[in-house]
Amino acid sequence: AHVVTAPCFECKYTDCVVVCPVECFYEGEQMLYIHPDECIDCEACVPECPVEAIFHEDNVPADYKEFIALNAEKAPHLPVITQSKTPMEGPACKGRK
Ligand code: SF4
Ligand code: F3S
Repeated sequence: AHVVTAPCFECKYTDCVVVCPVECFYEGEQMLYIHPDECIDCEACVPECPVEAIFHEDNVPADYKEFIALNAEKAPHLPVITQSKTPMEGPACKGRK
């Protein structure tokens, strides 16, 4: 499965959600999560994220490994998100490249 990691935190650009063919993004207060049992590894979302927050679980950078378990833990308890919305661009968001 693919995993949303730290760069999404306080950004939530949501460009990723509109391209997902299986609607497996879920919205938390500060970031989005992918449901690992629903993601089909199509990779469509990866280039859409302006802050490069999405990785295949096998390619998650060492500093972000904890996000693999976090996505699995959070996604099942949150509402699905399928439409883009205004980004947060909060203090921890590094912004569009
Ligand atoms: Fe959705 Fe494909 Fe991204 Fe998985 S890899 S979250 S199926 S767009
Ligand atoms: Fe987050 Fe990037 Fe999607 S910032 S909401 S993973 S487009």
